[in-house]
Order: sequence, then C-alpha cells, then structure tokens
Amino acid sequence: MTHARIEIAPSILAADFSRLGEEVRAVEAGGADVIHVDVMDGHFVPNLSLGIPVVESLAKATRLPLDVHLMIEHPEEYAADFIRAGASRVLVHQEATVHLDRALALIREHGAQAGAVVNPATPVVLLTDVLNKVDTILVMSVNPGFGGQEFIAGSLEKIRQLNQWRTRYNASFRIAVDGGVDPGNAADLVQAGANELIAGTSIFHTPDPAAAVRQLRKIATEALSQKV
Ligand code: DX5
Ligand code: ZN
Repeated sequence: MTHARIEIAPSILAADFSRLGEEVRAVEAGGADVIHVDVMDGHFVPNLSLGIPVVESLAKATRLPLDVHLMIEHPEEYAADFIRAGASRVLVHQEATVHLDRALALIREHGAQAGAVVNPATPVVLLTDVLNKVDTILVMSVNPGFGGQEFIAGSLEKIRQLNQWRTRYNASFRIAVDGGVDPGNAADLVQAGANELIAGTSIFHTPDPAAAVRQLRKIATEALSQKV
C-alpha cells in the first residue's frame, strides 16, 4: 500500500522552549502535518528532555496530532498517561521493552496509533512479527538522545527493506525517519519509501521555520512524483 502524502513532522527538541507555542504555530502555518515530541529519561538514552505536562500544554496549543517518541525504559508504564495528555501516536523502541507486542496493543487499546522504533544498530528483521500491528515504523537515522547529529547513511537501506516488506505482506504501516533529516537527503528518503520526515535542527535552527517546512514539503512532493 502506498501513502500519497508525505508527512512533515517538526521535532520540537530543537525549538526554543521559552517560545514553544509560537514555534509550534509557525510550523503549523508552514504546513506541518504533525508535531514530534521527544521524551527522554536519562536511562534509555543519555539525555533528559520533557514529559507529560509539556504534552498537555502542546495539545492545547495546536490542532496538529502529537507524535510522542518515547526514548524511555518501560514505555508500557507511561504510554497511557501520554495518550491521556493528548498524544495521537505513541512510538516505542524495540530495544526498550521485552514486551513490544504488549506495548503496541496497549497503545491501540487506549485509542492512539502505535509505532515501533529501531535504533541504528537494530536490524529491521526484529520487527517482522509486528508489521501488521503497527501504524508506523520509525527508523532512527541517528543514535537517539540528541538533536543535530549527522544522518547515518545505512538507514536508507532499512527504509527500502521495510518498503519491500510492506508490499510483500500487504501491510499498511507508515515508514518514518528521524535524525539528521534535511533538504539534502529528503528526496532520497522519500524515494526509498519514507512517508514521514521528522526534522528538528533543519527546521527550527533556521531563521524561518515555516519556510523550512515548506521547503521540505516541496522536495518531498517532487521526489514522490518521480518515485517509480
Ligand atoms: C533524537 C530525536 C530526534 C531529534 C531529531 O533522539 O529522536 O527527534 O530531535 O533532531 P535532528 O533533526 O536535529 O537530527
Ligand atoms: Zn524523535
């Protein structure tokens, strides 16, 4: 199954948190499809970020869906709270739980879309048994924990692999990519099969985040029209 529209998902990790509402409104005006929210616990990844109160505030500040990317241990213990706070989709790492199937089911039971995430060193073959139990598979193209890192080129091959499986198994999951996404690699990512481009630095660390969203959209739309 193909997904016609490429979703552009600004990652607020790179935003100015003292002006978060304004930053979100800017990317919304630029045509962003979803707001990507990175939650880090200082255990699963070596950094801390934000939690449930920020998601509650964001839910009031935007009409866009909130993608909550849980980079935390025991994600199944917190997923429902994030959904109650306003998350439309919750993404859990394959590496963060030995009960991935249970975590994904729990997210759906609470009325949100469920996503499975793989780190750069995790082969996508570990997700074959959940391909029909997820709305999204997120390929990390940097080691999670920080914005502003360099894109890991091998991620493209993982996206191609998932794209092939999607056809082969007649599955309908969306393929997302997160880390080092910018106007220089967006076309390749879309041509490989990505449906959602998550970008922090290349959107918020520019003078005009709305224009940065529009630029990614333009590149993605052109790449999609050229896709064979
Ligand atoms: C990394 C986060 C990403 C990050 C992407 O751990 O999951 O969402 O914000 O930032 P950039 O686009 O700067 O690589
Ligand atoms: Zn993320």
